[in-house]
Amino acid sequence: MLITFEGIDGCGKSTQINLLKQHLEAQGKQVRVYREPGGTSIAEKIRSLLLDSKNEIAAVSELLLFSAARAQLVQEQIIPALKSGNVVILDRFYDSTTAYQGYGRSVLPLKDIDALNKMASHGFIPNLTFYLRIPLTLALQRRAERAQDRMEMAGDEFYTRVIEGYELMVKEHPRFIVLDGAQPIESIALEIQKHL
Ligand code: ADP
Ligand code: TYD
Repeated sequence: MLITFEGIDGCGKSTQINLLKQHLEAQGKQVRVYREPGGTSIAEKIRSLLLDSKNEIAAVSELLLFSAARAQLVQEQIIPALKSGNVVILDRFYDSTTAYQGYGRSVLPLKDIDALNKMASHGFIPNLTFYLRIPLTLALQRRAERAQDRMEMAGDEFYTRVIEGYELMVKEHPRFIVLDGAQPIESIALEIQKHL
Protein backbone atom coordinates (compact mmCIF):
# COMPACT_ATOMS: atom_id res chain seq x y z
CA MET A 1 0.00 0.00 0.00
CA LEU A 2 1.28 3.44 -0.97
CA ILE A 3 0.14 6.44 1.09
CA THR A 4 1.25 9.98 0.29
CA PHE A 5 1.02 13.27 2.18
CA GLU A 6 0.75 16.61 0.41
CA GLY A 7 0.33 20.28 1.24
CA ILE A 8 2.35 23.47 1.43
CA ASP A 9 5.52 23.68 3.52
CA GLY A 10 4.68 23.70 7.22
CA CYS A 11 1.20 22.14 6.84
CA GLY A 12 2.10 19.35 9.31
CA LYS A 13 2.98 16.41 7.03
CA SER A 14 6.02 15.16 8.96
CA THR A 15 4.15 15.40 12.26
CA GLN A 16 1.22 13.34 10.96
CA ILE A 17 3.44 10.84 9.17
CA ASN A 18 5.28 10.05 12.41
CA LEU A 19 1.98 9.49 14.23
CA LEU A 20 0.56 7.33 11.44
CA LYS A 21 3.73 5.23 11.34
CA GLN A 22 3.46 4.58 15.09
CA HIS A 23 -0.24 3.74 14.73
CA LEU A 24 0.33 1.24 11.90
CA GLU A 25 3.33 -0.35 13.60
CA ALA A 26 1.26 -0.86 16.73
CA GLN A 27 -1.04 -2.94 14.51
CA GLY A 28 1.95 -5.08 13.52
CA LYS A 29 2.40 -3.56 10.05
CA GLN A 30 5.81 -3.02 8.49
CA VAL A 31 6.10 0.64 7.54
CA ARG A 32 8.68 2.49 5.46
CA VAL A 33 8.71 6.30 5.34
CA TYR A 34 10.52 8.40 2.73
CA ARG A 35 10.61 12.12 2.08
CA GLU A 36 10.85 13.71 -1.33
CA PRO A 37 13.18 14.81 -2.63
CA GLY A 38 15.45 12.31 -0.88
CA GLY A 39 15.51 8.79 0.51
CA THR A 40 18.56 7.47 -1.39
CA SER A 41 22.12 8.69 -1.52
CA ILE A 42 21.72 10.15 -5.04
CA ALA A 43 18.33 11.67 -4.25
CA GLU A 44 19.67 13.31 -1.06
CA LYS A 45 22.45 14.90 -3.15
CA ILE A 46 19.84 16.22 -5.60
CA ARG A 47 17.83 17.49 -2.59
CA SER A 48 20.82 19.54 -1.40
CA LEU A 49 21.14 21.11 -4.85
CA LEU A 50 17.43 21.91 -5.03
CA LEU A 51 17.02 23.39 -1.56
CA ASP A 52 20.31 25.31 -1.24
CA SER A 53 19.24 28.97 -1.28
CA LYS A 54 22.57 29.94 -2.91
CA ASN A 55 21.73 28.03 -6.11
CA GLU A 56 20.05 29.69 -9.06
CA ILE A 57 18.21 26.91 -10.86
CA ALA A 58 16.32 27.32 -14.13
CA ALA A 59 12.66 26.28 -13.87
CA VAL A 60 12.99 23.36 -16.30
CA SER A 61 16.15 22.13 -14.53
CA GLU A 62 14.27 22.28 -11.23
CA LEU A 63 11.45 20.18 -12.68
CA LEU A 64 13.90 17.60 -14.04
CA LEU A 65 15.91 17.44 -10.81
CA PHE A 66 12.81 16.75 -8.68
CA SER A 67 11.82 14.09 -11.22
CA ALA A 68 15.31 12.55 -11.26
CA ALA A 69 15.33 12.30 -7.47
CA ARG A 70 11.91 10.61 -7.62
CA ALA A 71 12.94 8.08 -10.27
CA GLN A 72 15.89 7.07 -8.09
CA LEU A 73 13.76 6.73 -4.94
CA VAL A 74 11.10 4.67 -6.71
CA GLN A 75 13.61 2.27 -8.24
CA GLU A 76 15.92 1.91 -5.24
CA GLN A 77 13.47 1.95 -2.34
CA ILE A 78 9.76 2.12 -3.13
CA ILE A 79 9.47 -0.81 -5.53
CA PRO A 80 11.42 -3.23 -3.26
CA ALA A 81 9.53 -2.03 -0.16
CA LEU A 82 6.12 -2.54 -1.80
CA LYS A 83 7.20 -5.94 -3.14
CA SER A 84 8.07 -7.06 0.39
CA GLY A 85 4.62 -6.08 1.61
CA ASN A 86 5.49 -2.88 3.47
CA VAL A 87 3.15 0.04 3.86
CA VAL A 88 5.05 2.88 2.19
CA ILE A 89 4.35 6.42 3.39
CA LEU A 90 5.73 9.30 1.35
CA ASP A 91 6.23 12.86 2.54
CA ARG A 92 5.41 14.29 -0.92
CA PHE A 93 5.24 12.48 -4.27
CA TYR A 94 4.50 13.56 -7.83
CA ASP A 95 1.49 15.67 -6.82
CA SER A 96 4.06 18.09 -5.37
CA THR A 97 5.58 18.45 -8.84
CA THR A 98 2.15 19.17 -10.33
CA ALA A 99 1.41 21.74 -7.60
CA TYR A 100 4.83 23.45 -7.33
CA GLN A 101 6.35 23.16 -10.81
CA GLY A 102 3.07 22.81 -12.74
CA TYR A 103 0.84 25.39 -11.04
CA GLY A 104 3.44 27.32 -8.98
CA ARG A 105 6.15 27.88 -11.59
CA SER A 106 3.91 27.21 -14.63
CA VAL A 107 7.01 25.80 -16.26
CA LEU A 108 5.37 23.47 -18.79
CA PRO A 109 1.81 22.58 -19.87
CA LEU A 110 0.22 20.30 -17.25
CA LYS A 111 -0.06 17.40 -19.71
CA ASP A 112 3.74 17.41 -20.09
CA ILE A 113 4.18 17.50 -16.31
CA ASP A 114 1.78 14.55 -16.03
CA ALA A 115 3.83 12.57 -18.58
CA LEU A 116 7.05 13.30 -16.72
CA ASN A 117 5.45 12.38 -13.38
CA LYS A 118 4.33 9.06 -14.82
CA MET A 119 7.82 8.34 -16.10
CA ALA A 120 9.58 9.28 -12.85
CA SER A 121 7.17 7.31 -10.66
CA HIS A 122 7.26 4.21 -12.92
CA GLY A 123 3.49 4.56 -13.23
CA PHE A 124 2.79 3.99 -9.51
CA ILE A 125 -0.32 5.79 -8.28
CA PRO A 126 -0.86 6.29 -4.51
CA ASN A 127 -3.72 4.32 -2.93
CA LEU A 128 -4.47 7.28 -0.67
CA THR A 129 -3.27 10.87 -0.61
CA PHE A 130 -3.82 13.03 2.47
CA TYR A 131 -3.89 16.74 1.70
CA LEU A 132 -3.35 18.93 4.74
CA ARG A 133 -5.09 22.17 3.95
CA ILE A 134 -3.86 25.29 5.78
CA PRO A 135 -3.98 28.99 4.97
CA LEU A 136 -0.69 30.48 3.79
CA THR A 137 -0.60 32.85 6.80
CA LEU A 138 -0.61 29.88 9.21
CA ALA A 139 2.11 28.10 7.21
CA LEU A 140 4.26 31.24 7.37
CA GLN A 141 3.75 31.49 11.15
CA ARG A 142 4.73 27.86 11.63
CA ARG A 143 7.79 28.27 9.43
CA ALA A 144 8.90 31.54 11.03
CA GLU A 145 11.46 29.92 13.31
CA ARG A 146 13.27 27.82 10.74
CA ALA A 147 15.66 29.02 8.01
CA GLN A 148 14.05 29.39 4.59
CA ASP A 149 15.18 26.97 1.87
CA ARG A 150 15.36 27.88 -1.85
CA MET A 151 11.75 26.83 -2.54
CA GLU A 152 10.39 28.71 0.48
CA MET A 153 12.04 31.90 -0.81
CA ALA A 154 9.76 31.81 -3.89
CA GLY A 155 7.28 34.21 -2.28
CA ASP A 156 3.58 34.49 -1.40
CA GLU A 157 2.25 34.72 -4.97
CA PHE A 158 4.01 31.49 -5.84
CA TYR A 159 2.53 29.74 -2.78
CA THR A 160 -0.92 31.09 -3.58
CA ARG A 161 -0.69 29.44 -7.01
CA VAL A 162 0.53 26.20 -5.38
CA ILE A 163 -2.51 26.21 -3.04
CA GLU A 164 -4.86 26.90 -5.97
CA GLY A 165 -3.26 23.99 -7.81
CA TYR A 166 -3.77 21.59 -4.91
CA GLU A 167 -7.40 22.70 -4.58
CA LEU A 168 -8.03 21.82 -8.23
CA MET A 169 -6.21 18.50 -7.87
CA VAL A 170 -8.23 17.38 -4.82
CA LYS A 171 -11.42 17.93 -6.82
CA GLU A 172 -10.09 15.99 -9.78
CA HIS A 173 -8.74 12.84 -8.06
CA PRO A 174 -10.88 10.76 -5.68
CA ARG A 175 -7.76 9.33 -3.98
CA PHE A 176 -7.28 12.70 -2.18
CA ILE A 177 -8.55 13.04 1.38
CA VAL A 178 -8.68 16.64 2.51
CA LEU A 179 -7.86 17.38 6.15
CA ASP A 180 -8.10 20.65 8.04
CA GLY A 181 -4.44 21.16 8.95
CA ALA A 182 -5.33 24.00 11.33
CA GLN A 183 -6.97 21.53 13.77
CA PRO A 184 -5.02 20.19 16.76
CA ILE A 185 -2.42 17.53 15.92
CA GLU A 186 -4.31 14.72 17.73
CA SER A 187 -7.66 15.40 15.99
CA ILE A 188 -6.01 15.28 12.57
CA ALA A 189 -4.25 12.02 13.50
CA LEU A 190 -7.57 10.42 14.51
CA GLU A 191 -9.21 11.55 11.27
CA ILE A 192 -6.34 9.99 9.27
CA GLN A 193 -6.65 6.70 11.18
CA LYS A 194 -10.34 6.48 10.23
CA HIS A 195 -9.33 6.11 6.58
CA LEU A 196 -7.03 3.13 7.19
P1 ADP B 1 5.72 19.82 7.20
O1 ADP B 1 6.40 18.47 7.30
O2 ADP B 1 4.47 19.75 6.39
O3 ADP B 1 6.65 20.91 6.75
P2 ADP B 1 5.75 19.79 10.11
O4 ADP B 1 5.07 18.53 10.52
O5 ADP B 1 7.24 19.83 10.15
O6 ADP B 1 5.23 20.23 8.65
O7 ADP B 1 5.12 20.97 10.97
C1 ADP B 1 5.61 22.32 10.90
C2 ADP B 1 5.54 22.94 12.30
O8 ADP B 1 4.17 23.07 12.70
C3 ADP B 1 6.21 22.10 13.39
O9 ADP B 1 6.78 22.99 14.32
C4 ADP B 1 5.05 21.32 14.01
O10 ADP B 1 5.29 21.01 15.36
C5 ADP B 1 3.90 22.33 13.88
N1 ADP B 1 2.60 21.66 13.68
C6 ADP B 1 2.33 20.59 12.91
N2 ADP B 1 1.01 20.28 12.93
C7 ADP B 1 0.43 21.20 13.74
C8 ADP B 1 -0.94 21.41 14.18
N3 ADP B 1 -1.94 20.64 13.76
N4 ADP B 1 -1.16 22.43 15.02
C9 ADP B 1 -0.15 23.24 15.42
N5 ADP B 1 1.14 23.09 15.05
C10 ADP B 1 1.43 22.09 14.23
P1 TYD C 1 10.88 19.89 2.46
O1 TYD C 1 11.63 20.64 3.52
O2 TYD C 1 11.08 18.41 2.37
O3 TYD C 1 9.32 20.12 2.50
P2 TYD C 1 8.41 20.57 3.69
O4 TYD C 1 8.81 22.00 3.92
O5 TYD C 1 7.06 20.40 3.15
O6 TYD C 1 8.69 19.67 4.86
O7 TYD C 1 11.25 20.62 1.11
C1 TYD C 1 10.83 20.19 -0.09
C2 TYD C 1 10.51 21.42 -0.93
O8 TYD C 1 10.52 21.06 -2.30
C3 TYD C 1 9.14 21.98 -0.63
O9 TYD C 1 9.19 23.40 -0.73
C4 TYD C 1 8.29 21.46 -1.77
C5 TYD C 1 9.27 21.37 -2.90
N1 TYD C 1 8.97 20.33 -3.92
C6 TYD C 1 8.72 20.73 -5.24
O10 TYD C 1 8.72 21.94 -5.55
N2 TYD C 1 8.48 19.78 -6.17
C7 TYD C 1 8.49 18.44 -5.88
O11 TYD C 1 8.26 17.60 -6.78
C8 TYD C 1 8.76 18.05 -4.53
C9 TYD C 1 8.79 16.60 -4.16
C10 TYD C 1 9.00 19.03 -3.58
